Amino acid sequence: MDSDLWKLAGLQYLEHLERLGIRHLPRPHANLPELLVDWVPGDRGPGDRVPGDRVIVDRGQTTAKAVPSAPTTKIAQEAPSPVAPAPKKPTGPPVESPWSTPPKAAEQRTAALGELKLKVEACRLCSDLACRRQQTVFGVGPVTTRFVMIGEAPGAEEDRLGEPFVGPAGQLLDKILLATGIPRDQVYILNALKCRPPNNRVPNEIELENCRPFFEAQLEILQPDYIICWGATAVRSVLNTTESIGQLRGRFHWYKKAKVIVTYHPSYLLRAPEAKKLTWDDMQMLMRELGTLKA
Ligand code: URA
Repeated sequence: MDSDLWKLAGLQYLEHLERLGIRHLPRPHANLPELLVDWVPGDRGPGDRVPGDRVIVDRGQTTAKAVPSAPTTKIAQEAPSPVAPAPKKPTGPPVESPWSTPPKAAEQRTAALGELKLKVEACRLCSDLACRRQQTVFGVGPVTTRFVMIGEAPGAEEDRLGEPFVGPAGQLLDKILLATGIPRDQVYILNALKCRPPNNRVPNEIELENCRPFFEAQLEILQPDYIICWGATAVRSVLNTTESIGQLRGRFHWYKKAKVIVTYHPSYLLRAPEAKKLTWDDMQMLMRELGTLKA
């Protein structure tokens, strides 16, 4: 086995230990910026999973007819596989395609997003989620940004405050952005799902499809140059694929005219700090592209 495969096998082993309740200790990585090395334990209360945690997909919570995808775990979706990586297949449109509408001026964008936000707030398509939510979490950021970041779904803190990525995963996201040299206030942040799933379970297919028009409309209004997908759910929604992060990361994809970067969810990185190195590689790919990576 070459050294990469050993590393991947090690990650799987740590996963196995974690499943047995044995928490592994963080180890610093060469080439990882200092602020990404430290271990940030999840500080949520018992039973209050943050998105990205290992949880069996909850079937049949929605009133719609189709059956959600087979039970799976976040870890299975996110964790690098210990077997040799499959040859990388292109996904999504193979090349860039145009946005559907001409770019809007800043004031028009603000107005269009304001209207869309009202529609999101009025949405009750996923009746179970609508009954339980404190509020919808639309997204925040500058309307003329070059960067849109997409997460999975609001957690408890996001549901309470109405903003994405304000819990523990958000704190790590801030550090990643700082290390990447992209201030958070220059990024528009949104989630694939606008309502908190009960117990932060993985959103099901029906819920994601119900919410798809909203985030697609957000992207069409914002027309960013880059979209960063954090975790399997965002990838699934944006690239319309079930391929794993491991298969997709490390290269650019396209969503219309935006280049898409795929990487692990910060919640996953909180539990598996070994994978931070891979996310840092993905951020460096972006920095290389932007010309901001110092040699
Ligand atoms: N908070 C969010 O808003 N989204 C996530 O995906 C995780 C935490």
